[in-house]
Amino acid sequence: MTNLAGKTAYITGAGRGIGRAIALKLAADGANIVLNDLDVDPAAEVVAEIEALGGKAIAIPGSVTAPGFAEDFIGAGLDKFGGIDIIVNNAGYTWDSFIGKMTDAQFDAMIDVHLKAPFQILRAAAPFIKSQAAEEAAEGREVFRKVVNISSIAGTGGNAGQANYSSAKAGIVGLTKTMAKEWGRMKVNVNAVAFGMIATRLTEATDEKKSIDVDGNTVGVGIPKKLVAGMEAMIPMGRAGTVEEAAGGVYLFCIPESNYVSGQTLIVSGGLTI
Ligand SMILES: NC(=O)c1ccc[n+]([C@@H]2O[C@H](COP(=O)([O-])OP(=O)(O)OC[C@H]3O[C@@H](n4cnc5c(N)ncnc54)[C@H](O)[C@@H]3O)[C@@H](O)[C@H]2O)c1
Repeated sequence: MTNLAGKTAYITGAGRGIGRAIALKLAADGANIVLNDLDVDPAAEVVAEIEALGGKAIAIPGSVTAPGFAEDFIGAGLDKFGGIDIIVNNAGYTWDSFIGKMTDAQFDAMIDVHLKAPFQILRAAAPFIKSQAAEEAAEGREVFRKVVNISSIAGTGGNAGQANYSSAKAGIVGLTKTMAKEWGRMKVNVNAVAFGMIATRLTEATDEKKSIDVDGNTVGVGIPKKLVAGMEAMIPMGRAGTVEEAAGGVYLFCIPESNYVSGQTLIVSGGLTI
């Protein structure tokens, strides 16, 4: 018997990196997975990996910022698996500049992907959660559901060059606290996990200029090797975290042991605080 048998988990940005590790972790613990990614092939590959391990998953590819995405994502998961037990708002990227050079488009893009999209997904899930919680309460049953919003220590502590990203990642903490209060009566635990430096495509140590295309914009990925070494030297545990370690932090908020924890932000950073 696993902790999450029969539960359905929705995870955005799960085609690679931390989101993929969360999807594999929750699936290994018995959850059905409704996953999304901007990129079709990586999303399909994660579905295949989960199925190969005996789990169940579907992919809803596309940008979380697309009009109507939230309703499509939640609707597709309900059609396939009939429930909503866990939502992990993870999809995202960075688009850095110092403030003098940051455009409105750059600022808005970060708010859209890291804050508005999670808001829209939770709003799309609200009618189902409300009606289920009312039925369960009428039957005298407490059924806990889980929301985990992904933040960053750039949001909790600030980070030079990330006025857009850190504002969005601080905003998601506000949304987390409010939804914990709004949905507590419905037994929904709403928490955030703020990562320090986790080794993924976003933070890859590279001196090459690498970029990705998101929502029609070309944005840089990777961090110069010297800078990564400097950052790792500041981490008490002496290195970046792995995606599995990152997923472990999220998992803690998905299991019954955290049923009385809500509105909190867990920092998963190898001890680094900024
Ligand atoms: N890696 C870190 O050190 C770190 C630190 C703090 C917070 N985070 C956060 O963790 C989350 C995951 O990042 P990661 O490091 O795994 O990066 P990643 O690039 O490895 O994976 C992110 C995934 O999200 C997808 N994605 C990006 N924009 C999307 C969109 N608009 N719609 C749907 N999917 C989209 C990408 O295609 C990618 O597969 C992000 O929210 C990020 O801000 C990461």
